Amino acid sequence: MSASLINDPKQAGERLKKGEIIIFPTETVYGLGASSLNYDSCNRIYKIKNRPIDNPLIIHVTNVESILEFSYIDSKYLESINELTPGPISFIVQKKKEIFTAGVDTLAFRVPGSRLAREMLKYSGPVCAPSVNFSGRPSLTTLEDVKDEFLDLVDGILVGEEPEIGLESTVVDLSSEIPKYLRPGYLSFDTVKKYFPNIELHSEIHLSPGMKYRHYSPNAKVSWIKNDEEISEKDFAFIGFHSRVNAKEQCLVSNNREYALNLFHFFVKMDKKNISRIYCEMPLSGTLFDAIVNRIEKAINK
Ligand code: TXA
Ligand code: MG
Repeated sequence: MSASLINDPKQAGERLKKGEIIIFPTETVYGLGASSLNYDSCNRIYKIKNRPIDNPLIIHVTNVESILEFSYIDSKYLESINELTPGPISFIVQKKKEIFTAGVDTLAFRVPGSRLAREMLKYSGPVCAPSVNFSGRPSLTTLEDVKDEFLDLVDGILVGEEPEIGLESTVVDLSSEIPKYLRPGYLSFDTVKKYFPNIELHSEIHLSPGMKYRHYSPNAKVSWIKNDEEISEKDFAFIGFHSRVNAKEQCLVSNNREYALNLFHFFVKMDKKNISRIYCEMPLSGTLFDAIVNRIEKAINK
């Protein structure tokens, strides 16, 4: 099987609704979508990705109203959710009505900032979509990488936009008394705290089933490197702000936006070139710092 490339978001949505598996771009990373009301299709996602079956999926919807049928959202949070939505953020809330969540009694939902994705979601209804990657590998952020690895495994790929952020959404848990910041993304802890003042920073490992698994790792061994630190090895790759003349491959970035957008694509590209060592410079403080550090730490500790 080879997936068809789809230009029309309506067609992508209708095909999702019929049970097909469709990859679509969002502003964070590409998503591997299946109708949340079709459990067979959702289960296919786990097989395609080789994803552990206890790791729930984020449900994507075209607007917040569309998830109200399936979940209890505390009314005191609705205004903040609406202000942060659409955008690169997922909210975990209590589940009300049967919908695919891999057995947990909460559900995570997201209204993507991407217009193309929201247009598709108008026709598909709720869509479960993890990042497009084999479990444990870096999330894919370019059409080229998606086609290389997944073209033969899915029914269609919606084309027309590429992710602008390059790292997955911020995940906030609103399902219990105290809101918890579970996964750093483009929206930082400090930003989200303005909307949920009593939010706590939490280690994802205990609360998000997916976080106990290996994540975001290329085949290469990944390490941090300081700007003034020498590298004695010959065959290494480098991503960061200051050029390394002896690097076999390097990705130079000038700010954290570029760093985030290029990180996973660089990891994937280095694997194709059989690079066994990747050094990463610390991101700059500010926007995306925590998110970039979080993904690189996971790649280091694989
Ligand atoms: O940006 C994103 O969030 C992308 C795009 C496609 O939307 N999706 C994504 O999905 O990153 P995934 O499956 O790769 O990561 C979702 C994370 C996992 O760590 C999962 O365990 C957690 O969210 N999660 C999903 N539902 C949950 C729930 N009900 N309770 C706790 N954690 C949940
Ligand atoms: Mg993922």
